Amino acid sequence: EFIKAYAPATVANVCCGFDVLGFALDQPGDEVWARLADKPGITITAVTGVAGLTADPKENVIGVVAQKMLDDLQLEQGLELQLHKGMPVGSGLGSSAASSAAAAFAVNELLGKPFTTQELVLYAMEGERKASGSAHADNVAPALLGGFVLVRDYAPLDVVPLGVPVDMFCSVLYPQIELKTSLSRSILKQEIPLKKGIRQWGNLAGLMVGLLKKDYGLIGRSLHDEIFEPERSILIPLFKQVKEAALAAGAMGCGISGSGPSIFALSATRETAQAVSAAMEKVYAHSGIETKSYLSPV
Ligand code: HSE
Repeated sequence: EFIKAYAPATVANVCCGFDVLGFALDQPGDEVWARLADKPGITITAVTGVAGLTADPKENVIGVVAQKMLDDLQLEQGLELQLHKGMPVGSGLGSSAASSAAAAFAVNELLGKPFTTQELVLYAMEGERKASGSAHADNVAPALLGGFVLVRDYAPLDVVPLGVPVDMFCSVLYPQIELKTSLSRSILKQEIPLKKGIRQWGNLAGLMVGLLKKDYGLIGRSLHDEIFEPERSILIPLFKQVKEAALAAGAMGCGISGSGPSIFALSATRETAQAVSAAMEKVYAHSGIETKSYLSPV
């Protein structure tokens, strides 16, 4: 009688779309199980797949998301939740977002779908606020809606799903160091020089048009970030070398996945993406840092 919801990993920012663009992978991802309970309040009866995550419903994002939904519905209903993680925490792959999105979806189904998918994005964002101190939507929106999603505005929230307009494959290299989103946000400069801003919004517009016109060349030319990547990449060992290797192996573009440390690269075919993954892994081969690779259609 559990409702079981799966939400996938997501790549946020996608180079030029800091806090406004993200896309979903097929896997890895998290599952949240939810069922009604007689006892009022929320209980988390299992957290599996990663060590060290709390089962305290006030501290775990799935409890926070579910509680907000119950509060807004003014329901006293008891809920039992379980979190089965299939992806690492602090990896830059939207781990807290996958848990939050799956929780929002599962609880909504359980309660008879009182909320629209757009509203679920807002609830899942509460999980992001809990996890990182900032309620960004560029991971939770694609985790819930799939494909590429543009977050055009936050006040009020305006999410624009683009679907998957072109065939692409994403290679992800996760160096197993933990990097907290709160840290990699705290180091960012709060002002952007005009020249860099101009290039960034040119690239973001180019990426949007490239996706919609299925223009791989334009997509590739647009996958740049001269604002945040230079500031953040110092936290990721061998980032520059990995990026060079990915591009040399044929990737259209490469950048930091979300707030890192994972590095993503987009390729037009699965064969290229496989070669790109191998080239990225090779850079870390003798580094002493363990890595994990994922390859997924976009
Ligand atoms: N856009 C967010 C950031 C994503 O880069 O901080 C965090 O996963």
